[in-house]
Amino acid sequence: MLVAKPTTAGTKEERYGELTQELAALLAGETDGLANAANLTALYFGALPELNWLGFYFLRGSELVLGPFQGKVACVRIALGRGVCGTAARERKTIIVPDVHAFPGHIACDATSRSEIVVPLLEGERLLGVLDLDSPRENRFDADDQLGLQAAVGVLVRSSDLSRLVG
Ligand code: SME
Repeated sequence: MLVAKPTTAGTKEERYGELTQELAALLAGETDGLANAANLTALYFGALPELNWLGFYFLRGSELVLGPFQGKVACVRIALGRGVCGTAARERKTIIVPDVHAFPGHIACDATSRSEIVVPLLEGERLLGVLDLDSPRENRFDADDQLGLQAAVGVLVRSSDLSRLVG
């Protein structure tokens, strides 16, 4: 039986490296985009500390639509350019928000959220959606999280057919 290695030892960068390898192993041999996105949320939400929400929004026309996630129920549709997710999607870059109350237009899905990171899913130049993580702790996310989560979505995009989730 495959037993996931504990992810508590080592630096944060090393823990993300292990997690990226676990993700690649988990997704190996499977290309279904919905299944792989769902398993990514379970793996990362279970492994990363101090999160209250982790999940996907996929691009449909000029909106982001809720995909697989872990956490409380969330808003379903976000227009491009709105909130942290819509801004990261429109700019096609990762956004770290140390204090969500200081981000103009932040969309509060869960009142316990204090900080947030949103990573775009890109296939070359093409925007597919975003991965969004929320924390109840202010200033929870840093450059290690950014690199680790960008690596995770890179594995997902390379190994999965996401075409049925994006339109
Ligand atoms: N806070 C996000 C909305 C999504 S929820 O956090 C799950 C935003 O401002 O875009």
